[in-house]
Amino acid sequence: MASHIEHIPGIRKTFPRPPAPQRKRIGVVGLHEGRTLLTGLERATRAVAVAGCDSDPAKVESCRRERPDLDYTTDYGALLARDDIDVVAIYTPDPLHGEHVERAFEAAKDVICTKPLVNSMADARRILAAGRRTGRRLQVGQSTRFFEPFLRQRAAYERGVLGELDLVDAHYVHRMDWFYAKSPWAIADTDWVFAGLSHPLDLLRWYLGRIRQVQAYGRHSALARQHGVVGFDVYTVQVVAEDGCLGRALGHYGCHELPSARNAIELVLWGSHSTSQAQYHDMRHRYIAEDGTEVTEDPLYALRHHYFNSEVHGMHYGEFANYAEHFATALIDGTPNSPDLEEGVETFCVMEAARRAARTGRPVDCAPLYAEAGLEVD
Ligand SMILES: NC(=O)c1ccc[n+]([C@@H]2O[C@H](COP(=O)([O-])OP(=O)(O)OC[C@H]3O[C@@H](n4cnc5c(N)ncnc54)[C@H](O)[C@@H]3O)[C@@H](O)[C@H]2O)c1
Repeated sequence: MASHIEHIPGIRKTFPRPPAPQRKRIGVVGLHEGRTLLTGLERATRAVAVAGCDSDPAKVESCRRERPDLDYTTDYGALLARDDIDVVAIYTPDPLHGEHVERAFEAAKDVICTKPLVNSMADARRILAAGRRTGRRLQVGQSTRFFEPFLRQRAAYERGVLGELDLVDAHYVHRMDWFYAKSPWAIADTDWVFAGLSHPLDLLRWYLGRIRQVQAYGRHSALARQHGVVGFDVYTVQVVAEDGCLGRALGHYGCHELPSARNAIELVLWGSHSTSQAQYHDMRHRYIAEDGTEVTEDPLYALRHHYFNSEVHGMHYGEFANYAEHFATALIDGTPNSPDLEEGVETFCVMEAARRAARTGRPVDCAPLYAEAGLEVD
């Protein structure tokens, strides 16, 4: 797979801005998390924010106060009808992504879609077919891949520093009572296997390639029971790749966090030459150097302006800017982007396999799901 790392250096503010025609013009729908992208794009050189859309007029007005230079609408159809938008970036609730992606493709727009790309097999089939029919391109907004320690860890892996991987170990844990209050659709209209576990499961797939089989267990935490959450909010997932390499992912969305011991998201790569760890929300990349020394890179203070808007810890401004820049560069230069539509649908299938395995208590082979979604199967 082509690396996205080589496309990343243009993100720094200090790089000269290319002339306007070389910049992809972005319209954002869903102005809660999507607002982070509008701010983040101030860091980009090859992508620029043009307009915002939210069906809630109050969201539009509060966004307008922050970015009065942009155009706004409460009608997604009106956003899609604009001919000064090249890329539509989707940050609406999970169950709406399928419809919003398909409509954007049909309106001849390329698409950035936040994670999870979709949360049902019907929507996976629908957007894959629409992408092939229209020839439009898509970038999944898998923010964790684009956070500094994960970029550094990937670059080291691609240089061969870790050798051959035996085991890939990822987790995302986060107490979500605040989210149920803010976004009630998370209670019944999605499942944490898509909403939260999309981060660690995407990380596993990024390193392991095509996954052959998934085993998973799940349960409802006390917090989930209190809120009447339909899907499980505690998951352990084990996967085996086509080449036999192993992965495991953990998700807990009703826990009491222990952030200094366990960052919200961590990825450990166990390789034949070295071991490395990347962390979010802290900004650390740790690894074993050739002489056995344990090295910690901690660029939090150096890069907090880019990732956290100069707060000590903050939102995803840098990661969102990085993937928008990566996608704009790929569109302008005609180079591959990752994760793209096919890769995103494949990761959906792994999440769906985990959901089914946790429900039945039995391992799930992925090949029939890939075929059901419309992906090629050997
Ligand atoms: N790390 C990340 O990348 C990250 C972080 C948080 C959320 N997300 C994702 O972003 C998406 C949104 O999450 P959120 O926390 O902002 O949810 P939210 O419920 O706070 O916001 C969703 C917004 O979409 C708007 N909306 C709903 N239907 C619409 C429609 N038909 N047309 C226009 N606007 C519409 C709502 O009014 C609301 O403002 C989810 O898919 C979530 O998983 C990604």
